[in-house]
Amino acid sequence: MADVKIEVRANGPCRVTGPIDIVDQDGNAYTIPEGQWVSICRCGASENKPFCDSAHRSIGFDAPSEAH
Ligand code: FES
Repeated sequence: MADVKIEVRANGPCRVTGPIDIVDQDGNAYTIPEGQWVSICRCGASENKPFCDSAHRSIGFDAPSEAH
């Protein structure tokens, strides 16, 4: 089993669990509380990109998550 798990949430973000680093275009690290999962926006509406701020709910983001 991989150390990092990315769960594509139905109609929502990608939830990333595991030891990860997220950096900006200059290589500066975002602060991620140790041991916590993070939700990465995939709807494009978050005011806090790259993180999800639940805006997907208010815009009615419709994106299934079933793997094919
Ligand atoms: S997926 Fe939640 S705000 Fe975009």
